[in-house]
Amino acid sequence: MVSKPLHSFIVILLVLSAGDKTAAVNEPELEMEPVPAVWPEQFHALMLMNKSGALEIVDLWYDWVNGRNFNIIQKQLGKLTYDLEWNNGTSFYYTLDASRTCRTVHFEVGILRPNWLDGAKYLGQRHVNGFLCNVWEKVEFLWYYEDIVTKRPVQWIFYTGREAHVMTFDVGAVLEDEKWQAPVYCFHNEKKEVQ
Ligand SMILES: *[C@@H]1O[C@H](CO)[C@@H](O)[C@H](O)[C@H]1NC(C)=O
Ligand SMILES: *[C@@H]1O[C@H](CO)[C@@H](O)[C@H](O)[C@H]1NC(C)=O
Repeated sequence: MVSKPLHSFIVILLVLSAGDKTAAVNEPELEMEPVPAVWPEQFHALMLMNKSGALEIVDLWYDWVNGRNFNIIQKQLGKLTYDLEWNNGTSFYYTLDASRTCRTVHFEVGILRPNWLDGAKYLGQRHVNGFLCNVWEKVEFLWYYEDIVTKRPVQWIFYTGREAHVMTFDVGAVLEDEKWQAPVYCFHNEKKEVQ
């Protein structure tokens, strides 16, 4: 025999849990729209770029901690070109071959912030190159595809048609400081254009 107070208690519990179920059924589902993962503050990625058929391999070293971003660009059967960007808005484009070319460009803004995808518009899920991705549009800029399982970027496609495919993504990898030194001819007044 269940004692009276305990019996009442069980009845109350049953009523409460039944109430819960009803509530769960009646309330609309509060499912949050996915947001893109914030970029790690430091990572290394190997990228395959396709600019309307012109292919490049880009060695990307993103280093927000030190305010710098490096794109080491191998154009298909072409020049190895270095695009070194500082957070103060200065970028150096140079080669390290005998041509000793360097171009310095000053931008109003520095490198991409880790949260640069904030506010991107969620478009849903797509299958891309064997990965199920969440897709966002960064309005007036690009579409961004992120692997649903690992949250790593798979690709982004600029409005210009330029495609960036992420081949490796190593969180925390940092390029040694010596490699971030633009060559001395970047600091001379005479400037040659990088072809
Ligand atoms: C590169 O993009 C062009 C379209 O712009 C496409 O025709 C071509 O197949 C792509 N190449 C590769 C290797 O993905
Ligand atoms: C920005 O920082 C880089 C690296 O320290 C430096 O070479 C460059 O001169 C700086 N640019 C400006 C405008 O201060």
